[in-house]
Amino acid sequence: MVPFDVEQVLSELTLEEKASLTSGADSWHTTAVPRLGVPSVMVSDGPHGLRKQDTVLGGPSLASNVPATCFPTAAALGSSWDPALLRRVGEALGRETRAHDVAVLLGPGVNIKRTPLCGRNFEYVAEDPHVAGVLAAALVEGIQSQGVGTSLKHFAANNQETDRMRVSADVDERTLREIYLPAFEHVVTQAGPWTVMCSYNRINGVYASQDTWLLTRVLRDEWGFDGLVVSDWGAVRDRVRALEAGLDLQMPAVGPRPDEEVAAAVRDGLLDEAALDRSARRALHLAARALPADGDPSTLDLDAHHALAREAAAAGTVLLRNEPVDGAPLLPLAGTAGLLVVGELARTPRYQGSGSSQVTPTRLDDALGALRAVDPTIAFAPGFTVAGGPDGDDDALLAQAVEAARTAGTVVAFLGLPGPDESEGYDRPRLGLPDSQLRLLAALTEANPRVVVVLANGSAVSVTPWRDDVAAVLETWLGGQAGGSAVADVLLGAREPGGRLTETIPLRLEDTPAFGNFPGEAGRVRYGEGVLVGYRWYDTRDLPVAYPFGHGLGYTTFAYDDLRVDVHEEGADVRLDVAVTVTNTGDRAGRAVVQVYVRDPEAAVMRPTRELRAFAPIDLEPGASRDVTFTLGARALAYWHPGLRRWAVEGGRFVVEVGASSRDLRASAVVDVVGEPLWGELTGDSTLAEWMEHPVGSQVLAAALEGAALPDLDPTVAAMVAQMPLRVIADLGVQGLTPQAVDALVAAAR
Ligand code: BGC
Repeated sequence: MVPFDVEQVLSELTLEEKASLTSGADSWHTTAVPRLGVPSVMVSDGPHGLRKQDTVLGGPSLASNVPATCFPTAAALGSSWDPALLRRVGEALGRETRAHDVAVLLGPGVNIKRTPLCGRNFEYVAEDPHVAGVLAAALVEGIQSQGVGTSLKHFAANNQETDRMRVSADVDERTLREIYLPAFEHVVTQAGPWTVMCSYNRINGVYASQDTWLLTRVLRDEWGFDGLVVSDWGAVRDRVRALEAGLDLQMPAVGPRPDEEVAAAVRDGLLDEAALDRSARRALHLAARALPADGDPSTLDLDAHHALAREAAAAGTVLLRNEPVDGAPLLPLAGTAGLLVVGELARTPRYQGSGSSQVTPTRLDDALGALRAVDPTIAFAPGFTVAGGPDGDDDALLAQAVEAARTAGTVVAFLGLPGPDESEGYDRPRLGLPDSQLRLLAALTEANPRVVVVLANGSAVSVTPWRDDVAAVLETWLGGQAGGSAVADVLLGAREPGGRLTETIPLRLEDTPAFGNFPGEAGRVRYGEGVLVGYRWYDTRDLPVAYPFGHGLGYTTFAYDDLRVDVHEEGADVRLDVAVTVTNTGDRAGRAVVQVYVRDPEAAVMRPTRELRAFAPIDLEPGASRDVTFTLGARALAYWHPGLRRWAVEGGRFVVEVGASSRDLRASAVVDVVGEPLWGELTGDSTLAEWMEHPVGSQVLAAALEGAALPDLDPTVAAMVAQMPLRVIADLGVQGLTPQAVDALVAAAR
C-alpha cells in the first residue's frame, strides 16, 4: 500500500521542502517532510553484505556496524557464473536489509575490471560486461524481491581508485557503449534497480554527477530508467548543474551546498522549477515504495545465510591448476593423514576488502579450524605474519614451516595479498604476492613436491614464476565469512571448485591492457586500449597469459559436441539459435560452464578477436549428456557504429565458438548474416571511395560524370584519389565536377 499520494504531496510542497528532498538528512537517511507524511528512509552499503552503521553520522570506524552475513565479495560471487545462485544470495541480502529497516542496499557494483591493480576490483564482477550484467541483474532481482531497493554503482567509467574523485576517464563513445556501459544497461533494462549511483569521476571532462548525456539521455531516454539517481557520497560539485543533468539525490547531508542554494536558484531563474519537481518526485517515489520500518532482525535465519555464504564461496573458488603427482592430481585431497597447513591466512583469514563495503560478520570461519573439525591432528605452521594475526618473526616462521614440510604428506599453503593492498580509495601497489610469501613458497616446493597453493586476494595476482613449481592452485578470492569452511569443503572434495575466471590472470603487469595508460596523469586517464579490455586484449593481440578468462578446472571433465547454429531473420532483427551437446566424461558429478563467443572477422571497424555473448552453468552426473541451447540477438553481433552513433549489424561472416574458456574452444561454426544498410549521409567531405560504396551516391555521381573526359589513372594514383574528399577532387579540377556540382550531388544523394 502506498503510504501517500506522490502527486498530491508534490503539489503541496514548498520550494524549500522540494529542495530538501534532493539531499540527505544525514549520512544514511533521506529527508522527511513530516507535515505531509513523507518518511525518511535509510540506505546502507553493500554490496556483499549489509553495512548498517551503529551510529548515525559518521560512525567511529568502518567496522562499527550491526552484524550481518558477509557473503563472498563480487569477485568470488562473479566467478560462480551462476545467476540462480546470485539470485538466492540476493534474496538473503534483501531479507537482512529489510529486517534491519534499511530501504536500499548500496550495490551491486558493475564497473569493468580494466586493470588488475584497481583497488576496488574485489567489489566488481568481471572484465567482461556480459557476465557482469547477467550476474548483477540476478543479484538485484533477488534483493528487490524482498521489498527493498538496490543502488547500481558506480555509474560510470569508475575503473580506478587513484584520484577517483577528480580524474577524467577519457574514453571514446564506442568503448563506453561496448565495454563500460552494457552491464549497467543490462541491469537497468532487465532488473529495474530502484536507484543508480553516479560515480565520483569525470567522463571526458564532465563530472558524472553533472553529465546530462549519461544521467538523462542514455540512462533514462535510451534505457528507460525510471528510478532515482543518487550521488556517490560527496560526488556533487554543483547542485544546480547536477539537478539539471538528472542527478536526483545528493548524499550525504548537504554540508556546504545547502538546500537554500537550490531554492534560490529557482527563485532567481537559474534553475527551472520543473527540473527540481522531477527530482523531488523521484525522491517521493522512493520514500513511497519503501516498506514501513517494522523489520525484525530476530526473524532472520542466520545459520541458513551462513550456509548459503559457504555454498557461494565454494561455487566461486577457481581451480587454476591440478597436476598429477605420483600418478594422480592432488585435489581433491585423498585424505587428511600427513596433511600440513602452512600460512597465517589459514588461521587469520582475509575474506573481504577495505572501505565502504566492509561488513561486520555474524561469525567467521577459518580454513584451519574447518579442516581440524574434520581431523584435529592436522599440522599447522603459520609461515609468515599478517596484520591482525599473532606477532612473530617471519624468518623463524619460514624455517619452522619448511622443516615441517620436509616430512609432510601434502602441504597446503594459504597465501594472499596483505589486507592494506586492496581497498577503496587507492589502487594496488603491485601485482605479486609479498616477498616473504614468495620466499616461503620457494622453500616449501624445494622441500616437498606435493604443494597445493590456496590464494586469497580480491583481484588477479601474479602466479609467475611459481605456478609451475606447485601441483595445484586454488583461487578463493575474498570469500566472505564462510570462505574458510568453503575452502575446506573444496580441498576435501565435499564440494566442487565451481568457479571460472571472470578476469584474465596475466603473466606480467606489462602485458595488461591499461599498462601505460593507468592511472593517468594531470587529472586525466586515457583509455587508449579502447575496446580491447581483458581477454579482448590478450586474445586479439595473441599474448600469452597465465590463465585465460573463463578458465577453471573441476574435479571431472567434459566434452562439447555437435555444435549447431541456425540464422533467422536479418539485419537488426537477426537471431542465432545455438545448440551444443555437453557430456560429463569423468567419473564424478560436476559442473561445466558453457561459454559462447562470437567473432566478426570482416568488419569496417576493428573488432576484438572474440567476445563472450552467452554462457550457462550445467550440472551433469558422470556419463550424462545434455543439449544446451542459446539464443543470440542482434546485439550479440552488433558493434557501436562510431559514425552513425548507434548499434549496427554489419553483414558478412561470423564465427560462433563454444568452449570452456576464451582459450579452450571446443567447437566452432561459421555463419553468414545479412546485415543492415549502414550508409551514413554523404557530404562534400566524403571520399570518392565512400561515394562509390554508397548505393545512391554512386549512381548520382556516375550520372553527373557521364560523358566527362576523365583521365586514365594508373592504379596507385587511382587508389590515392579514392581516398580524397569529393570537394578536394573538384578543387583539383575534374571536368563536370565543380564545387557547385558537388553541392548538387550532396543534395541528390540524400
Ligand atoms: C563509495 C560507495 C559507497 C558510499 C557510501 C563511497 O565512498 O564509493 O560505494 O556506497 O561511499 O558508503
